[in-house]
Amino acid sequence: MRWVESGDVRLALFEQGDPAAPTVLLVHGYPDTHRVWDEVASLLEDRFHVVRYDVRGAGLSGAPRATEDYDYDHLAADMTAVLDTVGKPGVHLVGHDWGSIQGWKLIGRPGIEERILSFTSVGGPHLDQAAHFVRHGRPREVAGQLLRSWYIGAFQIPVIPELVLRAVLPRVMRRFVRVAGRPGHPADTLVRDGLNGLGLYRANMLTRRGTPAEPVPRIPVQLVETTKDPFVSSTLLASTRLWVPRLWHRRIPAGHWVQRSHPRVLARMIAEFAEHVEGAPPSRELRGDRPGRRGPYDDRLVVVTGAGSGIGRATARAFAAHGAEVICADIDLGAARRTVEGIAAGGGTAHARQVDVADATGMEEFARVVKDRYGVPDIVVNNAGIAVAGPFLDHSVDDWRRTLDVNLWGVIHGCRLFAAQMAERGQGGHIVNVASLAAFLPSRLLPAYSTSKAAVKMLSDCLRAELAGQGIGVTAICPGFVSTAIARNARYVGELAEGAGRPAGRALAARGYPPERVAAHILRAVHRDLPVVAVNAEGKIGHALSRISPAAVRRLARLAGGAKSRD
Ligand code: NAI
Repeated sequence: MRWVESGDVRLALFEQGDPAAPTVLLVHGYPDTHRVWDEVASLLEDRFHVVRYDVRGAGLSGAPRATEDYDYDHLAADMTAVLDTVGKPGVHLVGHDWGSIQGWKLIGRPGIEERILSFTSVGGPHLDQAAHFVRHGRPREVAGQLLRSWYIGAFQIPVIPELVLRAVLPRVMRRFVRVAGRPGHPADTLVRDGLNGLGLYRANMLTRRGTPAEPVPRIPVQLVETTKDPFVSSTLLASTRLWVPRLWHRRIPAGHWVQRSHPRVLARMIAEFAEHVEGAPPSRELRGDRPGRRGPYDDRLVVVTGAGSGIGRATARAFAAHGAEVICADIDLGAARRTVEGIAAGGGTAHARQVDVADATGMEEFARVVKDRYGVPDIVVNNAGIAVAGPFLDHSVDDWRRTLDVNLWGVIHGCRLFAAQMAERGQGGHIVNVASLAAFLPSRLLPAYSTSKAAVKMLSDCLRAELAGQGIGVTAICPGFVSTAIARNARYVGELAEGAGRPAGRALAARGYPPERVAAHILRAVHRDLPVVAVNAEGKIGHALSRISPAAVRRLARLAGGAKSRD
């Protein structure tokens, strides 16, 4: 630790890591001190020279008496004094909350790009951009942000905020930080920091706002959006791209104090961005969040099982056509390879892998290879499936076992292994499970198939509830009849054993509903994070009927063979 003089105020400066390594300057927000970064700083110190300081009024640093001494000019002078003391030609600036707000202001200043190589902004918008958003944004979105910012107005009232903060600040912090306190955070000086920091709001918030476009920051900016932030809305952050040409927009499913709740994820983002700006090739995740991305699937990694035919093949093609890198997995390697060749011929990127989704060990190996070679997938489509058709009494134990092994266990393995990877990475993701109309329409001729699909639908609902907090969406896709090879590939038993395959295959082809349309529903469902999607007319009618009249659905179930059973 050393002291830095900035005008009348002495600032406490802290350094760790090798001073010869690239420097990362971590600036805290309100009402924190440099200690809020403890976890992130220790994760970065083996690769970076990590510098932190207590901003004026906080922690060990001195506090000016006059409110106007908390204005931008003084804050910029403090940061400049810190940069002078550190003495590096260029640093990577990372700001959280007010640390980010002052960072935005600083990187707009002419000539600063020689001192600041990159800026990572977390939980604190550019105030001029925010003012522009409030003046010109859509009324609903603006209202949403203003509701989140009510306290800014309240902080302008004299005396009362001081009284309230004294009484409630420790409790409020406990509620919003979401992780247990530890020595240093919230700081012992919390109440004093909170009262001093009111100066930040009073000196800077009600001043006239400039036009954010002037000057345009030329420094590369990594905007880290914490998707559960109670203070900053995602629509406000989305407007940042209007002003910043070199903007990498990343997302972490976390609340405002992300450096406490997700230190590994944030440290990884800070490191990979700084290293990229220093010349390292970008990680795939960073590429996916780069400026000028064409669509939501650009550079995303997608795994599709059963990608050698039908819905799986069409889905793999659709994701690849939208810029994703696709792992095409199938029990039939030749079929998966043909899908990959088709994608490559269209200019896309895909890789074929052989896996039997029913095989637990094989799936574990598959998930490991995907992670090691390509990274953690952003989207997984558990699509592989088979059908056995005929009466229940003619299904053998093996018919049941294989149907459940592929249709249900295959989905369980895919969810278990890849959801674990996504949760560990901490950047969200999406899982699509291909169920069927059969999940809610019973049929006397598809007992094992329908049971497996109903279970997939229920599994998807359970998993969706569990993973929502981690930003991982789960969708169950429930198509009606789709013109694929499934009927041709199915096994027929009992009264259907004699030559039912061919007419069933012809009937499915005659339905004329191409798998490409199911694929389009899958892409839309991921984009909109939809829970259950019934696809095509019979899919939608069946879904509606199952909710309106379960008795009618049960009666329909007997039709296929004209059985005379009682409801
Ligand atoms: P398909 O028979 O054309 O394609 C299925 C693919 O899955 C094939 O490439 C096959 O080799 C692969 N596969 C089968 N078992 C596997 C295993 N154990 N491990 C890895 N791959 C395996 O069938 P389709 O129609 O494209 O089916 C895809 C999914 O859509 C299935 O889950 C199916 O139940 C579901 N579905 C199909 C409907 C239809 O009418 N075609 C309707 C509703 C749902």
